Amino acid sequence: MTHTRGTAVLRGVDGDRDVTDRLLLRTVPGAVDYLFEDLRALPGAVVVARRPDGLVVDWSGPLRELASIRYFATCAVVLDDVDARVSAPGGAVSALTGPVRFRVAPVGEERWELRDRLVEKYGWVNDSGDWAVNIDHDQGLIAELGPLFYPRRFGELTRAPASTNPVVAAVMVRLAKIEPGQVVLDPCCGAGTLLVTAGQMADPGVLLGGDLRDRWAMASQENLAARRVPGLALMADATMLPLPDASVDRVVANLPFGKRIGSHADNQRLYPLMLRELRRVLRPKGRAVLLTEDKRLFTQSVQRTHGLRVVKEIEFTRPGAHPSAYVVTSRRSGR
Ligand SMILES: C[S@@+](CC[C@H](N)C(=O)[O-])C[C@H]1O[C@@H](n2cnc3c(N)ncnc32)[C@H](O)[C@@H]1O
Repeated sequence: MTHTRGTAVLRGVDGDRDVTDRLLLRTVPGAVDYLFEDLRALPGAVVVARRPDGLVVDWSGPLRELASIRYFATCAVVLDDVDARVSAPGGAVSALTGPVRFRVAPVGEERWELRDRLVEKYGWVNDSGDWAVNIDHDQGLIAELGPLFYPRRFGELTRAPASTNPVVAAVMVRLAKIEPGQVVLDPCCGAGTLLVTAGQMADPGVLLGGDLRDRWAMASQENLAARRVPGLALMADATMLPLPDASVDRVVANLPFGKRIGSHADNQRLYPLMLRELRRVLRPKGRAVLLTEDKRLFTQSVQRTHGLRVVKEIEFTRPGAHPSAYVVTSRRSGR
Protein backbone atom coordinates (compact mmCIF):
# COMPACT_ATOMS: atom_id res chain seq x y z
CA MET A 1 0.00 0.00 0.00
CA THR A 2 1.23 3.48 -0.77
CA HIS A 3 0.80 6.14 1.92
CA THR A 4 -0.09 9.18 -0.11
CA ARG A 5 0.31 11.43 2.89
CA GLY A 6 3.56 11.50 4.84
CA THR A 7 4.91 12.65 8.16
CA ALA A 8 6.00 16.19 7.54
CA VAL A 9 8.64 17.95 9.59
CA LEU A 10 7.53 21.46 10.47
CA ARG A 11 10.04 24.03 11.69
CA GLY A 12 9.30 27.66 12.33
CA VAL A 13 5.56 27.12 12.40
CA ASP A 14 3.13 25.79 15.00
CA GLY A 15 1.64 22.92 13.02
CA ASP A 16 -0.93 22.07 15.69
CA ARG A 17 -2.54 25.48 15.88
CA ASP A 18 -5.91 25.87 14.13
CA VAL A 19 -5.77 28.41 11.34
CA THR A 20 -8.32 29.67 8.83
CA ASP A 21 -7.10 31.19 5.59
CA ARG A 22 -7.33 31.20 1.81
CA LEU A 23 -4.28 29.37 0.48
CA LEU A 24 -2.75 28.78 -2.94
CA LEU A 25 -1.19 25.30 -3.19
CA ARG A 26 1.10 25.18 -6.23
CA THR A 27 2.08 21.94 -7.85
CA VAL A 28 3.10 20.55 -11.23
CA PRO A 29 0.45 20.07 -13.92
CA GLY A 30 -0.24 16.35 -13.83
CA ALA A 31 -0.36 16.30 -10.02
CA VAL A 32 -3.42 18.53 -9.53
CA ASP A 33 -5.91 15.62 -9.50
CA TYR A 34 -3.87 13.83 -6.83
CA LEU A 35 -3.69 16.99 -4.74
CA PHE A 36 -7.45 17.43 -5.11
CA GLU A 37 -8.08 13.85 -4.02
CA ASP A 38 -5.90 14.15 -0.90
CA LEU A 39 -7.53 17.46 0.04
CA ARG A 40 -11.00 15.94 -0.27
CA ALA A 41 -10.04 13.54 2.52
CA LEU A 42 -9.38 16.48 4.88
CA PRO A 43 -12.53 18.02 6.41
CA GLY A 44 -10.80 21.41 6.78
CA ALA A 45 -10.26 21.95 3.05
CA VAL A 46 -12.68 23.50 0.58
CA VAL A 47 -11.31 23.89 -2.93
CA VAL A 48 -12.48 27.22 -4.33
CA ALA A 49 -10.53 27.41 -7.61
CA ARG A 50 -8.63 25.05 -9.84
CA ARG A 51 -5.64 26.11 -11.92
CA PRO A 52 -3.43 24.08 -14.28
CA ASP A 53 -0.63 24.29 -11.71
CA GLY A 54 -2.51 24.18 -8.42
CA LEU A 55 -5.56 24.77 -6.29
CA VAL A 56 -6.90 27.65 -4.23
CA VAL A 57 -8.24 26.29 -0.96
CA ASP A 58 -10.14 27.71 1.97
CA TRP A 59 -8.36 25.98 4.82
CA SER A 60 -9.55 25.59 8.35
CA GLY A 61 -7.55 23.42 10.75
CA PRO A 62 -3.98 22.72 11.85
CA LEU A 63 -1.30 23.24 9.18
CA ARG A 64 0.24 19.86 10.08
CA GLU A 65 -2.63 18.05 8.34
CA LEU A 66 -2.15 20.07 5.20
CA ALA A 67 1.64 19.73 5.36
CA SER A 68 1.36 15.93 5.23
CA ILE A 69 0.18 16.11 1.59
CA ARG A 70 2.97 15.38 -0.88
CA TYR A 71 1.31 16.66 -4.03
CA PHE A 72 2.07 20.36 -3.63
CA ALA A 73 5.41 22.14 -3.81
CA THR A 74 4.56 25.49 -2.22
CA CYS A 75 1.83 26.93 -0.04
CA ALA A 76 1.00 30.62 -0.03
CA VAL A 77 -1.55 32.86 1.65
CA VAL A 78 -3.65 34.68 -0.96
CA LEU A 79 -3.18 38.34 0.02
CA ASP A 80 -6.30 39.85 -1.53
CA ASP A 81 -6.24 42.31 1.38
CA VAL A 82 -2.64 42.44 2.59
CA ASP A 83 -3.26 44.09 5.95
CA ALA A 84 -6.24 41.91 6.83
CA ARG A 85 -4.44 38.70 5.86
CA VAL A 86 -1.05 39.27 7.48
CA SER A 87 -2.56 40.43 10.74
CA ALA A 88 -5.55 38.06 10.92
CA PRO A 89 -5.51 36.54 14.46
CA GLY A 90 -6.30 33.03 13.16
CA GLY A 91 -4.62 33.35 9.76
CA ALA A 92 -1.79 31.11 8.54
CA VAL A 93 0.84 33.80 9.23
CA SER A 94 -0.17 33.80 12.90
CA ALA A 95 1.04 30.17 13.17
CA LEU A 96 4.63 31.18 12.35
CA THR A 97 6.80 31.12 15.44
CA GLY A 98 9.15 33.91 16.48
CA PRO A 99 9.44 37.24 14.68
CA VAL A 100 8.30 36.88 11.05
CA ARG A 101 11.36 36.96 8.77
CA PHE A 102 10.39 37.93 5.25
CA ARG A 103 11.48 39.12 1.85
CA VAL A 104 9.60 40.88 -0.92
CA ALA A 105 10.20 39.63 -4.46
CA PRO A 106 10.03 42.21 -7.27
CA VAL A 107 6.27 42.77 -7.18
CA GLY A 108 6.17 46.16 -8.90
CA GLU A 109 6.24 49.71 -7.63
CA GLU A 110 4.67 48.84 -4.31
CA ARG A 111 7.65 46.64 -3.32
CA TRP A 112 9.51 49.05 -1.05
CA GLU A 113 6.40 50.64 0.44
CA LEU A 114 5.14 47.16 1.29
CA ARG A 115 8.48 46.13 2.82
CA ASP A 116 8.57 49.22 5.04
CA ARG A 117 4.93 48.78 6.08
CA LEU A 118 5.50 45.16 7.13
CA VAL A 119 8.51 46.21 9.22
CA GLU A 120 6.98 49.31 10.80
CA LYS A 121 3.36 48.25 11.28
CA TYR A 122 3.74 44.54 12.05
CA GLY A 123 7.32 44.26 13.39
CA TRP A 124 8.36 41.79 10.69
CA VAL A 125 12.09 41.38 10.05
CA ASN A 126 13.29 41.92 6.48
CA ASP A 127 15.77 39.10 5.80
CA SER A 128 16.24 38.02 2.18
CA GLY A 129 18.56 35.15 3.21
CA ASP A 130 16.64 33.39 5.98
CA TRP A 131 12.93 34.03 5.50
CA ALA A 132 9.71 32.31 6.48
CA VAL A 133 7.53 34.48 4.26
CA ASN A 134 8.17 35.42 0.62
CA ILE A 135 5.86 38.10 -0.72
CA ASP A 136 5.43 37.43 -4.42
CA HIS A 137 3.03 37.91 -7.27
CA ASP A 138 0.93 35.15 -8.81
CA GLN A 139 -2.33 36.43 -10.30
CA GLY A 140 -2.32 38.81 -7.30
CA LEU A 141 -0.15 39.19 -4.22
CA ILE A 142 0.69 36.04 -2.26
CA ALA A 143 2.78 35.25 0.82
CA GLU A 144 4.62 31.96 0.36
CA LEU A 145 5.22 30.15 3.62
CA GLY A 146 8.81 28.83 3.77
CA PRO A 147 8.12 26.07 6.35
CA LEU A 148 5.54 24.57 3.93
CA PHE A 149 7.95 24.20 0.96
CA TYR A 150 8.19 20.53 -0.02
CA PRO A 151 11.93 20.08 0.75
CA ARG A 152 11.47 21.76 4.14
CA ARG A 153 8.63 19.37 5.00
CA PHE A 154 10.07 16.09 3.67
CA GLY A 155 13.82 16.73 3.74
CA GLU A 156 16.32 18.33 1.40
CA LEU A 157 18.22 15.87 -0.80
CA THR A 158 21.57 16.20 -2.53
CA ARG A 159 20.62 16.72 -6.16
CA ALA A 160 21.99 15.41 -9.43
CA PRO A 161 21.88 17.70 -12.51
CA ALA A 162 18.61 16.10 -13.70
CA SER A 163 17.11 15.19 -10.34
CA THR A 164 13.44 14.32 -10.34
CA ASN A 165 11.04 17.01 -9.17
CA PRO A 166 9.90 15.70 -5.74
CA VAL A 167 6.18 16.16 -6.48
CA VAL A 168 6.58 14.28 -9.77
CA ALA A 169 8.42 11.58 -7.80
CA ALA A 170 5.49 11.33 -5.36
CA VAL A 171 2.98 10.91 -8.20
CA MET A 172 5.19 8.27 -9.84
CA VAL A 173 5.48 6.29 -6.62
CA ARG A 174 1.74 6.41 -6.23
CA LEU A 175 1.25 5.19 -9.80
CA ALA A 176 3.62 2.30 -9.05
CA LYS A 177 1.15 0.86 -6.48
CA ILE A 178 3.92 -0.63 -4.32
CA GLU A 179 2.68 -3.27 -1.92
CA PRO A 180 4.35 -4.01 1.43
CA GLY A 181 7.40 -6.24 1.14
CA GLN A 182 7.82 -5.86 -2.62
CA VAL A 183 11.14 -5.55 -4.42
CA VAL A 184 11.44 -2.06 -5.92
CA LEU A 185 14.13 -1.00 -8.40
CA ASP A 186 15.24 2.31 -9.90
CA PRO A 187 17.77 1.29 -12.60
CA CYS A 188 18.70 4.94 -13.46
CA CYS A 189 18.66 6.25 -9.89
CA GLY A 190 20.79 9.41 -10.21
CA ALA A 191 20.80 11.01 -6.75
CA GLY A 192 17.94 8.77 -5.62
CA THR A 193 14.91 11.06 -5.34
CA LEU A 194 12.60 8.25 -6.48
CA LEU A 195 14.24 5.70 -4.19
CA VAL A 196 13.88 7.93 -1.14
CA THR A 197 10.28 8.81 -2.05
CA ALA A 198 9.40 5.14 -2.59
CA GLY A 199 10.93 4.25 0.78
CA GLN A 200 9.00 7.04 2.50
CA MET A 201 5.63 6.51 0.81
CA ALA A 202 5.56 2.72 0.73
CA ASP A 203 6.95 -0.23 2.68
CA PRO A 204 9.12 -2.05 0.14
CA GLY A 205 10.86 -5.20 1.33
CA VAL A 206 13.90 -4.43 -0.81
CA LEU A 207 14.76 -1.07 -2.37
CA LEU A 208 17.45 -1.16 -5.06
CA GLY A 209 19.06 1.53 -7.17
CA GLY A 210 21.51 1.38 -10.03
CA ASP A 211 23.29 4.05 -12.04
CA LEU A 212 25.90 3.82 -14.75
CA ARG A 213 27.94 6.38 -12.88
CA ASP A 214 29.41 5.44 -9.52
CA ARG A 215 29.19 9.05 -8.41
CA TRP A 216 25.39 9.05 -8.62
CA ALA A 217 25.01 5.61 -7.08
CA MET A 218 26.98 6.97 -4.12
CA ALA A 219 24.84 10.12 -3.99
CA SER A 220 21.73 7.90 -3.85
CA GLN A 221 23.24 5.88 -1.04
CA GLU A 222 23.99 9.07 0.89
CA ASN A 223 20.47 10.42 0.36
CA LEU A 224 18.95 7.11 1.50
CA ALA A 225 21.13 7.14 4.62
CA ALA A 226 20.39 10.81 5.35
CA ARG A 227 16.63 10.12 5.26
CA ARG A 228 17.04 6.79 7.11
CA VAL A 229 15.45 4.86 4.24
CA PRO A 230 16.81 1.29 4.02
CA GLY A 231 18.03 0.61 0.49
CA LEU A 232 21.04 -0.20 -1.64
CA ALA A 233 22.36 1.74 -4.64
CA LEU A 234 25.16 0.40 -6.81
CA MET A 235 26.93 1.18 -10.04
CA ALA A 236 25.11 -0.88 -12.67
CA ASP A 237 24.09 -0.69 -16.31
CA ALA A 238 20.31 -0.67 -16.79
CA THR A 239 20.78 -2.76 -19.95
CA MET A 240 22.63 -5.53 -18.05
CA LEU A 241 21.24 -5.67 -14.54
CA PRO A 242 22.97 -7.94 -12.02
CA LEU A 243 19.60 -9.40 -11.01
CA PRO A 244 17.94 -12.79 -11.61
CA ASP A 245 14.97 -13.21 -13.95
CA ALA A 246 11.56 -12.37 -12.46
CA SER A 247 13.00 -10.90 -9.25
CA VAL A 248 11.53 -7.37 -9.21
CA ASP A 249 7.93 -6.30 -8.49
CA ARG A 250 8.07 -2.59 -9.23
CA VAL A 251 10.33 -0.30 -11.23
CA VAL A 252 10.35 3.49 -10.92
CA ALA A 253 12.78 5.51 -13.01
CA ASN A 254 13.44 8.94 -14.41
CA LEU A 255 15.14 7.96 -17.68
CA PRO A 256 17.72 10.06 -19.52
CA PHE A 257 15.59 12.39 -21.68
CA GLY A 258 18.33 12.77 -24.29
CA LYS A 259 18.59 16.50 -23.59
CA ARG A 260 20.64 17.31 -20.49
CA ILE A 261 21.48 13.65 -19.87
CA GLY A 262 22.53 11.62 -22.94
CA SER A 263 21.19 12.22 -26.45
CA HIS A 264 18.37 10.95 -28.63
CA ALA A 265 20.97 8.77 -30.40
CA ASP A 266 22.04 7.29 -27.01
CA ASN A 267 18.39 6.64 -26.19
CA GLN A 268 17.84 4.81 -29.47
CA ARG A 269 20.23 2.21 -28.13
CA LEU A 270 19.38 2.52 -24.42
CA TYR A 271 15.57 2.36 -24.41
CA PRO A 272 15.05 -0.93 -26.33
CA LEU A 273 17.83 -2.70 -24.43
CA MET A 274 16.71 -1.37 -21.05
CA LEU A 275 13.07 -2.30 -21.69
CA ARG A 276 14.08 -5.83 -22.65
CA GLU A 277 16.08 -6.02 -19.44
CA LEU A 278 13.15 -4.71 -17.38
CA ARG A 279 10.85 -7.32 -18.94
CA ARG A 280 13.41 -9.97 -17.91
CA VAL A 281 13.72 -8.88 -14.28
CA LEU A 282 10.04 -7.98 -13.72
CA ARG A 283 7.77 -10.57 -12.17
CA PRO A 284 4.67 -11.55 -14.21
CA LYS A 285 2.46 -9.01 -12.40
CA GLY A 286 5.22 -6.43 -12.41
CA ARG A 287 4.68 -2.74 -13.02
CA ALA A 288 7.06 0.00 -14.08
CA VAL A 289 6.57 3.76 -13.96
CA LEU A 290 9.04 5.46 -16.27
CA LEU A 291 9.49 9.19 -16.86
CA THR A 292 10.78 10.51 -20.16
CA GLU A 293 10.52 13.38 -22.59
CA ASP A 294 11.79 11.27 -25.52
CA LYS A 295 8.22 10.07 -25.86
CA ARG A 296 7.86 8.78 -29.37
CA LEU A 297 11.02 6.71 -29.07
CA PHE A 298 9.89 5.41 -25.70
CA THR A 299 6.38 4.35 -26.77
CA GLN A 300 7.71 2.78 -29.98
CA SER A 301 10.32 0.89 -27.96
CA VAL A 302 7.63 -0.43 -25.58
CA GLN A 303 5.47 -1.52 -28.56
CA ARG A 304 8.46 -3.43 -29.93
CA THR A 305 9.19 -5.13 -26.60
CA HIS A 306 7.11 -8.27 -26.59
CA GLY A 307 5.29 -8.70 -23.28
CA LEU A 308 5.21 -5.02 -22.20
CA ARG A 309 2.52 -2.42 -22.78
CA VAL A 310 1.76 1.16 -21.73
CA VAL A 311 -1.46 1.34 -19.68
CA LYS A 312 -1.38 4.97 -18.58
CA GLU A 313 0.38 8.26 -19.33
CA ILE A 314 0.48 11.35 -17.11
CA GLU A 315 2.01 14.49 -18.59
CA PHE A 316 3.84 16.92 -16.30
CA THR A 317 4.01 20.00 -18.51
CA ARG A 318 5.84 23.06 -17.27
CA PRO A 319 7.78 25.84 -18.99
CA GLY A 320 10.50 24.32 -21.14
CA ALA A 321 9.69 20.72 -20.23
CA HIS A 322 6.85 18.32 -20.88
CA PRO A 323 7.87 14.86 -19.70
CA SER A 324 5.36 12.07 -19.23
CA ALA A 325 5.27 9.26 -16.70
CA TYR A 326 4.29 6.01 -18.42
CA VAL A 327 2.86 3.10 -16.49
CA VAL A 328 4.10 -0.05 -18.17
CA THR A 329 2.90 -3.53 -17.24
CA SER A 330 3.55 -7.00 -18.39
CA ARG A 331 0.83 -8.03 -20.88
CA ARG A 332 -0.17 -10.89 -18.61
CA SER A 333 -0.99 -8.58 -15.69
CA GLY A 334 -4.12 -6.52 -15.18
CA ARG A 335 -4.25 -2.78 -14.52
C1 LIG B 1 17.32 11.76 -15.35
S1 LIG B 1 18.65 11.12 -14.44
C2 LIG B 1 17.88 10.39 -13.07
C3 LIG B 1 17.58 11.38 -12.01
C4 LIG B 1 17.19 10.74 -10.71
N1 LIG B 1 15.90 10.11 -10.77
C5 LIG B 1 17.22 11.76 -9.59
O1 LIG B 1 16.17 12.19 -9.15
O2 LIG B 1 18.31 12.20 -9.22
C6 LIG B 1 19.09 9.71 -15.38
C7 LIG B 1 20.21 8.90 -14.78
O3 LIG B 1 20.39 7.73 -15.63
C8 LIG B 1 21.76 7.38 -15.59
N2 LIG B 1 22.01 6.47 -16.74
C9 LIG B 1 22.18 6.78 -18.04
N3 LIG B 1 22.36 5.65 -18.76
C10 LIG B 1 22.30 4.61 -17.89
C11 LIG B 1 22.42 3.20 -18.00
N4 LIG B 1 22.67 2.61 -19.18
N5 LIG B 1 22.32 2.47 -16.89
C12 LIG B 1 22.08 3.04 -15.68
N6 LIG B 1 21.98 4.37 -15.51
C13 LIG B 1 22.07 5.14 -16.59
C14 LIG B 1 22.48 8.70 -15.64
O4 LIG B 1 23.80 8.58 -15.10
C15 LIG B 1 21.58 9.59 -14.76
O5 LIG B 1 22.03 9.63 -13.43
